[in-house]
Amino acid sequence: MVIDARVKQMKALVLSGGAGTRLRPITHTSAKQLVPVANKAVLFYGLESIAEAGITEVGVIVGDTAAEIQEAVGDGSKFGLEITYIPQERPLGLAHAVLIARDWLGDDDFVMYLGDNFIVGGISSLVDEFRSNRPDAQILLTKVADPRAFGVAELDAAGQVVGLEEKPEEPKSEFALVGVYLFTPLIHDAVREIQPSWRGELEITHAIQHLIDKRADVRCTVIEGYWKDTGNVVDMLEVNRTVLEGLDQRIDGEVDEDSETIGRVVVEEGARIVRSRIVGPAVIGAGTVVEDSYVGPFTSVAENCRITDSEVEFSIVLRDSSIHGVGRIENSLIGRHAEVTPAPNVPSAHRLVLGDHSKVQIHT
Ligand code: DAU
Repeated sequence: MVIDARVKQMKALVLSGGAGTRLRPITHTSAKQLVPVANKAVLFYGLESIAEAGITEVGVIVGDTAAEIQEAVGDGSKFGLEITYIPQERPLGLAHAVLIARDWLGDDDFVMYLGDNFIVGGISSLVDEFRSNRPDAQILLTKVADPRAFGVAELDAAGQVVGLEEKPEEPKSEFALVGVYLFTPLIHDAVREIQPSWRGELEITHAIQHLIDKRADVRCTVIEGYWKDTGNVVDMLEVNRTVLEGLDQRIDGEVDEDSETIGRVVVEEGARIVRSRIVGPAVIGAGTVVEDSYVGPFTSVAENCRITDSEVEFSIVLRDSSIHGVGRIENSLIGRHAEVTPAPNVPSAHRLVLGDHSKVQIHT
């Protein structure tokens, strides 16, 4: 008898679809999975942690923003992954994504990863735990301030999940479902059984509830260090800070002799630091010029920006933006192709060109 000694392969299903109407202010020109955290798309961290967990076959669900996602991710080789794109005609729900990926998934176990979720520390230990215990399904939970924006789990005294609700008005706990799920092929039966929710989506929460009702072995793990793009700038600055904390110093660009970099600073290739001071952790993107300026801790400046005669600290500046002669900017998120300049002195008035949903704080 020939024994197949290979470890059972796992796949990953990454959800990067969704329609434009759901996008938040800062992502109105882009897929929300491509929002940068420390100058790297949030989706890339997910793909990297999938690769780190030893998974190579990845199906990526794409919708309206398919072109942008495919352009950014390519065939996956730069992550050490083999990527298959699975188009979803409309965002009909997370369980719908599983339904349309059925053939590609075959009878393999898989991790389902929502492309706009960020898990500090990756998923390797979770995948290992799942591989060794192999329950029917495993979900991740985290405590959040306002669970109403999430799927919410109800746990019994022993910490077992007894119920799940999607975006409840009156949450039964503070445990939100994190967008990483581990499944065996049993989930395929469950997604076929459920009906669309009040929001017209096939909810994965309902499919998992279905497994629980059938007495399947559904386990949960509570994690810390979780973030999802909710359009909340404070949270976004915070996750940027967390990632920058782990930065290693690297100077690939040019730093002239009248400049200094202090601490863990990354200056990408093609960036130029002229008569300036950069205090880490901070990252300066490729092609960006910082001149006669100060960039302080916990700041990410993306590619092709220009910062002159200014100070920027604890902020995110997205690509192709310029900040010139404005003194100090703190706790700010500046979008792509934005321009920040001083107002002419007379008349003494603020001149603003702001996109939809912008928020500006003006010193009066
Ligand atoms: O992020 C965690 C939350 O994700 C969980 O707490 C909820 O239980 C779960 O339902 C989900 O909630 P959201 O309503 O916030 O999911 P959202 O519509 O933002 O979609 C999550 C990701 O999946 C996003 O990258 C877009 C993608 N997606 C979504 C849908 C509905 C698809 O690719 N196809 C879809 O049909």
